[in-house]
Amino acid sequence: QKHVISISDFTRAELELVIDTAVMLKTHPRPELLKHNVVASCFFEASTRTRLSFETAVHRLGGSVIGFSDSGSTSLAKKGETLADSVKIISSYSDAFVMRHPQEGAARLAAEFSSVPVINAGDGSNQHPTQTLLDLFTIYETQGTLQGLTVAFVGDLKYGRTVHSLTQALSLFGCKFYFIAPQALAMPDYLCDELTEKGINFEFRDSMEEVMDELDILYMTRVQKERFDDTEYMHVASKYVLTPEVLDNAKDSLKVLHPLPRIDEITAEVDDTPYAYYFEQAENGVYARQALLALVLNESL
Ligand code: CP
Repeated sequence: QKHVISISDFTRAELELVIDTAVMLKTHPRPELLKHNVVASCFFEASTRTRLSFETAVHRLGGSVIGFSDSGSTSLAKKGETLADSVKIISSYSDAFVMRHPQEGAARLAAEFSSVPVINAGDGSNQHPTQTLLDLFTIYETQGTLQGLTVAFVGDLKYGRTVHSLTQALSLFGCKFYFIAPQALAMPDYLCDELTEKGINFEFRDSMEEVMDELDILYMTRVQKERFDDTEYMHVASKYVLTPEVLDNAKDSLKVLHPLPRIDEITAEVDDTPYAYYFEQAENGVYARQALLALVLNESL
């Protein structure tokens, strides 16, 4: 059973296989690849990109989708059903079970009760492995390699599950990291300890400008309002805002990525610069998720 719970479950070779498969599916669409498959898409927490790109991925491969995007309307919420029971039932109707949940560890719990592969589409502030797959695919697409890149992560590095997953993955490719965040939203100690143990080169900086000329990828993130009360949020919001001026010393090949949605951390003027690549990144979610589904469901290309 190939569950996809954490990006740390992937080897470097497995990540490369997903990327190669995504490249293939982007250039050579396979409209019947999943024609015998039903994929459950169950979102217990809000999503736009992840849910819709997963569902588009399935539809464009000829498969069918069941599920919900509003768990408040399910019997789990209305009748007090346990997550374990829901997972047993839904997995009996489907060939793969895509799930987002506000609780950290919910996807791993679901995997214990599912009869089909569980794909974690985000669990609290823990992991977002499929976002990482599309991020890796996008970085590869723009830089031609994942090896030895210099990447700055900016914004909410404490609660930002996309950052947690992506640093773990890029650490398999000898990348160097800069972490730029308000003090209260610094990278968690346990992840820094992991990077240190692996011998990864990372540094903390106060501004984007001081490292801009070194960067291959600038990975911006949103401060996640939903994880704070209003007073705490006011203290950490809007500290790092990317404008075209901040990009003055950037390499020509730099690309700005963001998992989206954004609030105010990237101004609209940046969208018109050659550095902006976050909308293409969101589109790549379809191909990365197609690749993952094809591999998890053992469909040969
Ligand atoms: N990037 C991302 O996970 O977006 P959604 O919350 O819209 O799925």
